[in-house]
Amino acid sequence: MAVTAVVGAQWGDEGKGRVIDYLAQKADVVIRFQGGDNAGHTVINEFGKHALHLIPSGIFNPTTANLIGSGCVVNPRSLLDEMAKLEQAGVVLDNLWISTRAQMVMPYHRQLDVLEEAARGKDTIGTTKRGIGPAYADKAARSGLRMGDLLQPDWLETRLDSALATVNRKIEILGGEPVSGDELYALCMEYREKLGPRIVDSVPLVRRAYEAGRRILLEGQLGVMRDLDWGIYPYVTSSNPTASYAASGAGLPARAIDEVYGVVKAYSTAVGDGPFPVELVDGVGEKLRSIGEEFGATTGRPRRCGWFDGVAIRYAAWLNGMTGLAITKLDVLDSFESIKVCVGYQLPSGEVIGDSMPDTPVLYQVTPLFEEWPGWQTSTANCRRWDDLPAAARAYVARLSELAGVRLAYISVGPEREQMFEV
Ligand code: GDP
Ligand code: IMO
Ligand code: MG
Repeated sequence: MAVTAVVGAQWGDEGKGRVIDYLAQKADVVIRFQGGDNAGHTVINEFGKHALHLIPSGIFNPTTANLIGSGCVVNPRSLLDEMAKLEQAGVVLDNLWISTRAQMVMPYHRQLDVLEEAARGKDTIGTTKRGIGPAYADKAARSGLRMGDLLQPDWLETRLDSALATVNRKIEILGGEPVSGDELYALCMEYREKLGPRIVDSVPLVRRAYEAGRRILLEGQLGVMRDLDWGIYPYVTSSNPTASYAASGAGLPARAIDEVYGVVKAYSTAVGDGPFPVELVDGVGEKLRSIGEEFGATTGRPRRCGWFDGVAIRYAAWLNGMTGLAITKLDVLDSFESIKVCVGYQLPSGEVIGDSMPDTPVLYQVTPLFEEWPGWQTSTANCRRWDDLPAAARAYVARLSELAGVRLAYISVGPEREQMFEV
């Protein structure tokens, strides 16, 4: 299909990067449509192991154009660092583009992210401290700088002056060091020199590709449970990882999207604060963390782990309009004797809900209800087709698909590119 959105269907880190890397082998364009360098999308292929933060995961395919879309917030410093790492590994970056309309994450956004988290006291959000929230807040407040501003120095200077008028007041109130406009302007001129030729009006690029029927992948960051509107507010990110935003953040008409693949782990993980009903704070959670190597790709923080959440997946499937499921990390369950799946939440009133996530304060009060499935207790790492999977593993993933109400599209049984297959 011509335009496919690939989105996280849980709390993030579902394996979006590896799914995009796999699909990009046959894609003409990959567009990151939201988020910033809070993302950590791990890709393992012939170029080694890379945790991509801003650069779309199609970058390893030399014939694929990779665009950082207008829905993103771009920290030029991290982008340059990421580009240097990839170049060192032999990846060619000739086909990397940045939308003029993408917002710029400035050093003061990171400073504000840290100060604001500290000011929250015990009630933190657990952000990645990459300045994402403050950058999107400035976008909405209309005081943000955009990547295209780097190409217009006079305009940039005026915009920077007007932004700093409020930024420095905020920083002072929160007890931080005010920033110098001259230093920031000089930094921007360095970014302009290094990134200028890649900053383009993305509309003609995307429109031409779409009208020529090229295959376009839209890469989401994070997952629906951290969506600004539909996630566990306020413990969310400051943009919309759901597919509804993919067209807007990429610069496509809403009706352009043909397929929506929801990426899900065969169990659940979350990094950051907020309610997480299926969380296991016992040895089983520890076992999932250690076998699944569940530590944040961006911050290194241990991920909270739990069984698969069938309520969350029904909610995610509906909100994203999913047309296919990509189930990752099935191999992590290989050694478990039995595996549980959450199929409903019991509210304090006794009522059971199964297909929609309640709002945050209620989510703290629910009791997850589980069903139990027999494990397969054999390695799936070398399975390359549906029929190769042990019968118990097939029954388990079929149940996940049934709970989601979405067909199985892909399964992965290890982090390497060849350990993923179409169902
Ligand atoms: P993303 O943010 O959604 O791209 O996911 P992350 O890269 O943050 O986290 C996924 C982690 O799981 C990475 O370390 C991947 O290398 C790893 N991974 C992805 N798919 C599989 C799989 O099928 N099996 C195993 N064992 N690891 C996987
Ligand atoms: P990928 O794209 C997992 C979480 C943070 C915090 C919340 C808000 O790799 O799945 P932010 O820094 O965005 O303001 O933090 O969102 N978070 C992620 N969790 N994977 C990510 O990205 C994340 N990006 C942000 O932990 O709870
Ligand atoms: Mg990640």
